[in-house]
Amino acid sequence: MANKVIAILGASGGIGATMVELLAVRDDVDQIHATSFSSTPPVLSNKQDSRAERCDIRWTTLDATDEVAIREWVGGIGQVDWLINCVGMLHDEAHGPEKTIRHFDPGHFQRSMALNCLPTLLLGKYALPALKRSPAGVFATVSAKVGSITDNRLGGWYSYRAAKAALNMSLKCLSIEWARNARNLRVVALHPGTTDSNLSKPFQQNVPEGKLFSTAKTAGLLIQQIEQLQNQPSGRFIAYDGEEIPW
Ligand SMILES: NC(=O)c1ccc[n+]([C@@H]2O[C@H](COP(=O)([O-])OP(=O)(O)OC[C@H]3O[C@@H](n4cnc5c(N)ncnc54)[C@H](OP(=O)(O)O)[C@@H]3O)[C@@H](O)[C@H]2O)c1
Repeated sequence: MANKVIAILGASGGIGATMVELLAVRDDVDQIHATSFSSTPPVLSNKQDSRAERCDIRWTTLDATDEVAIREWVGGIGQVDWLINCVGMLHDEAHGPEKTIRHFDPGHFQRSMALNCLPTLLLGKYALPALKRSPAGVFATVSAKVGSITDNRLGGWYSYRAAKAALNMSLKCLSIEWARNARNLRVVALHPGTTDSNLSKPFQQNVPEGKLFSTAKTAGLLIQQIEQLQNQPSGRFIAYDGEEIPW
């Protein structure tokens, strides 16, 4: 089998950047297309590794909520084996996740939808030609367990939960549509577990001992899950350890 070409959206974030680092040193990966938005592309901590030097990493700055930017990026990268979307947002300077509906803010809700759900729909609209010829294609988005409607026992976090639930539904629809015309392709929603990144920083104090993962642990486990997808049906929601999460 030919070596892989991988595209990672949100590759400047905690999880996305570490995925690039881990994938760049693999002998079976030739090229990585990586995107950032407001951050400058991270310098790989393992860039001196000769295997990382061999990998052709191409960075693009793009706004993942911009349809034209997504269309041009996906249209320009050629054939891809894995497309992994790591873009997401839980809080910004002005808003955190809502403890009660009284804290709900329409602007924050719309931004959460725009960053947690919309990019996957835009990728879905334009990425099929890039993925269709891969012998073992993957269309993955990092979601969150709190987006599971069945699993929701605590409530709160309205905007983030709703946006990840909408993301999950979008992925499920894509898996059904593509099962008809791209049987090589596996569509998956991934739960990373609580991971030490900017996104989780303000919420780390209540995480139980041993439950806050390094980005290296999370990225490594998610890549392992992606590798095992070809033997599984498309359209699943799985955690870093392979646990099947109810939608
Ligand atoms: N960390 C956790 O504990 C945790 C738990 C559950 C789920 N998740 C999910 O995992 C995914 C990755 O999270 P993370 O922890 O790596 O977060 P992060 O470090 O905050 O990274 C977020 C990424 O999204 C990008 N981004 C933000 N706005 C964008 C835009 N308009 N266009 C393009 N890219 C944009 C950022 O790019 P710039 O920095 O360049 O702007 C960055 O690469 C998210 O979907 C998150 O919801 C994380």
